Amino acid sequence: MKDSNFLKEHNARSMWHPMAHPADSLANPPTIVTGAQGVRITDIDGHEVVDAVGGLWNVNLGFSCAPIKAAIAAQLDRLPYYSTFRGTSNDAVIELSEELRRFFAPDGLTRAFYTSGGSDSVETALRLARQYHKIRGQGQRTKFLSLKKGYHGTHFGGASVNGNANFRTAYEPLLAGCHHIPAPYTYRNPFNEADPAKLAQLCLAALEDEIAFQGAGTIAAFIMEPVLGAGGVIPPHESFMPGVREICTRHGILLIADEVITAFGRTGSWSGSRHWGVQPDFMCTAKAITNGYFPFGAVMIAEEVAQVFEADTSGAAAIGHGYTYSGHPVGAAAALACLAETERLNVPENAAARGAQLFEGLQALAEKYDIIGDVRGGHGLMCALELVSDRAKKTPIDKKTIGTVQEVAYRAGAMVRVSGPNIIMSPPLILTADDVQIILSALDEGFAAL
Ligand SMILES: Cc1ncc(COP(=O)(O)O)c(C=O)c1O
Repeated sequence: MKDSNFLKEHNARSMWHPMAHPADSLANPPTIVTGAQGVRITDIDGHEVVDAVGGLWNVNLGFSCAPIKAAIAAQLDRLPYYSTFRGTSNDAVIELSEELRRFFAPDGLTRAFYTSGGSDSVETALRLARQYHKIRGQGQRTKFLSLKKGYHGTHFGGASVNGNANFRTAYEPLLAGCHHIPAPYTYRNPFNEADPAKLAQLCLAALEDEIAFQGAGTIAAFIMEPVLGAGGVIPPHESFMPGVREICTRHGILLIADEVITAFGRTGSWSGSRHWGVQPDFMCTAKAITNGYFPFGAVMIAEEVAQVFEADTSGAAAIGHGYTYSGHPVGAAAALACLAETERLNVPENAAARGAQLFEGLQALAEKYDIIGDVRGGHGLMCALELVSDRAKKTPIDKKTIGTVQEVAYRAGAMVRVSGPNIIMSPPLILTADDVQIILSALDEGFAAL
């Protein structure tokens, strides 16, 4: 590896960073991370911090998960790649499919379709949803509904159901027939309703209204995150997702749970759908399926949907979709080891306990600093602070101020993520009580520095 002078001089010079302005990356060079152990990352200057971002919501078991590393190395030796396109398979992916079928049985999901990440998983679910209706002779069901503030990755389909202009405007026109309803976001919503239960009912009424307006027979699927993540950690009221399920079922609309963040324990339950007592028709997973160590994802498919495909004799169920890396043996081996560790460590339990501690500590910070307009969390290890320059008027904070909080917090021992006016936390699920305290103290220093 080149020395640190070389790396600093060339930082962002010959690459463009995702979700960043190229000129900004040159003016404010990104932190160069060179190592990681447990829940801590180390930068090029040897500065070590608790990673409250958890990689990118994916390193649930931390950076030192030996069984996953060993499984990847062993699989690379045995069979580093083979395709799963029609006619071939591999041993690791067959075993993984049985394990996922067992793991997701309580969610009613019994088949897997493999991908290389979250955006691929979303694209796959949207496509298979349309195909499901075509097989059943309802080919006019092509539209998708979703939530404003939702995040579903960056492929054209996913961007089209995304509910945040930042990921849409520069790339329009997007897919036709994608429509959005208000998110159950108590801090800001068009109904001016702060009560979570009442807001859930209003958003459900908006969903009913949109379905009536579009015509139920034109809609293929509704896609939602059980807890909205990248949009600023927005947990809906417990009545919301069951309400969506009931409406979708009544109108013959498939429900896609985008669990790229929430599957495998982050909410304090094994899946976000299970957290709310809902069985979706498709579940998009990725990220923590391999603890972030290998790009991999799986779309889990409900038994009833699978039956429709498998019973087809017309040829309409032939799947004209898939990726070179679908069912990659190294990813499958990583996922097998990761699932075993995730279950062995019973991570939802710690996610719930440490999540409650973090949420409580953030609420205490909000008592101390007026700049914190809203504190969101309470469902496992996903929390956010929404910053405002005027608490009464809820004026969104400027970029420079929130950047200062992040920078000072980093110097003080914690990496947090800034997204618009939000500071987002999604640490590894193996976090200790002391680690939570380090994150809270670092943020405290960040706010005190303003
Ligand atoms: C809910 C959700 N869906 C989809 C994606 C896209 O995943 P990827 O970045 O792996 O393509 C993300 C990424 O953060 C996500 O949070």
